Amino acid sequence: MEPEEVEDSSAREKPVEVSPLAAGVLRRNDLKTWTKPAPSLYPHQWSWDSAFIALGLAHMDNERAARELETLFAGQWENGKLPHIIFNPDAPPKSYFPDAERWNSATLSSDAPSAPHTSGLCQPPIHAIAVLRIWETARGKDERRVELARSFLRDSYPRLLAWHLYLTTARDPEGSGLVTIHHPWESGTDNSPRWDAALEAIEIGDLPPYTRRDLAHVTDPSERPSDEEYDRYLWLLELLKKARYEEAKIYEVHPFLIKDVLFSAILVAANEALLQIAQAVDAPEDDRVLIEHWMERGRKSLEQCWDPNFKLCLDYDLRAERPARVRTIAGFAPLIAGGLSPERLKDLLETLDSPAFAGNPRLRRPLPPSTSPEEPGFHPRSYWRGPVWPVANWLLWWSLLRAGEHERAEEMRHATIDSLADGGFAEYYEPFTGEALGASDQSWTAAVALDFLAAGSS
Ligand code: SER
Repeated sequence: MEPEEVEDSSAREKPVEVSPLAAGVLRRNDLKTWTKPAPSLYPHQWSWDSAFIALGLAHMDNERAARELETLFAGQWENGKLPHIIFNPDAPPKSYFPDAERWNSATLSSDAPSAPHTSGLCQPPIHAIAVLRIWETARGKDERRVELARSFLRDSYPRLLAWHLYLTTARDPEGSGLVTIHHPWESGTDNSPRWDAALEAIEIGDLPPYTRRDLAHVTDPSERPSDEEYDRYLWLLELLKKARYEEAKIYEVHPFLIKDVLFSAILVAANEALLQIAQAVDAPEDDRVLIEHWMERGRKSLEQCWDPNFKLCLDYDLRAERPARVRTIAGFAPLIAGGLSPERLKDLLETLDSPAFAGNPRLRRPLPPSTSPEEPGFHPRSYWRGPVWPVANWLLWWSLLRAGEHERAEEMRHATIDSLADGGFAEYYEPFTGEALGASDQSWTAAVALDFLAAGSS
């Protein structure tokens, strides 16, 4: 696969040509029908990684991008859930834990497919956004490609609708407009201090023994979640298994039930994309009315999570009945959801530019750390406790564009491309030095680079 004229003026001025390097990462991690998130740390297909990967692949090979998501959709549960991991039967033994056997999804739940094996969780719904990108990049190309993309759009639409329906019902039985997560892994921001208080309140019972595999793939264990966090992650997994992954049962007994504002905002943005897809495939009017209702309700509910002191949005812990008062990039949820009042947009931009985030004077580049450096839970090297994540920058960049904030969006795009030109396609970066951390050759980092570069050449 060669990139199709993905070019950008900022990259041209650089000594490093980012586009062919990004394409090279995706090519090396390519397993024909799906892409490994990283060469060794993540040997299976992850849901939101895959959606970001498809978004980047759309610029290289539109058909292959569609295939990426079709492979993911093959693991969709009967109840509409898109699982967070689709297990690769050919992954080297003992390369990843918890493995398919530990999840045991197909045995425990009749909703889970018997093949492929999947995890029992889900991750933020970037998928409709990626499907739309595949459609947008195909349009204007040759007729065959447009036809293929159109047929992909038609096949994806019911899958996406079922997925969003699952999230707006099983994951929101209150009809609140906010998605409830059952595990920090569902947020995609695993060890963010957003979850600290809720995790601390959990009493770990009789946890079956396990061996972590992730630490074998990074040089410095402090870049990954701690053992204490892992015990809690694994304990929550045992509890979900005990409930046989039944949504109603989980709601009744599970100790970790949190209204996740970032997940909910991504769902609103994904519904905006789904609405465009619905229009393109000529879906029934009732569907469109429903999707619009989800968007409106989602935006209203995020407004209710607004914290006027932090000028950010906060997650809500249903068990503790209180918001998680921590400043992280998730707080920019209303920007991602879109449809903001001028006043709210001003508030969010003020927070973004402030020393609490991208305006912090110690930063290597004006890119928001995943957790505010002003938070006690901040750690500049540890996974989601502080490092800068290019995919998070992509989400904010794309949201700034949708909000009409072109200059700011350009600044974020350029700074991110710069950081990749210097540090390579890492999983995340130390905010004060720009040092590459976590896995290297991370697929979604390369994928968002291609999307950033394509935006520069349009
Ligand atoms: N992100 C988690 C991991 O690192 C779970 O998906 O394995």
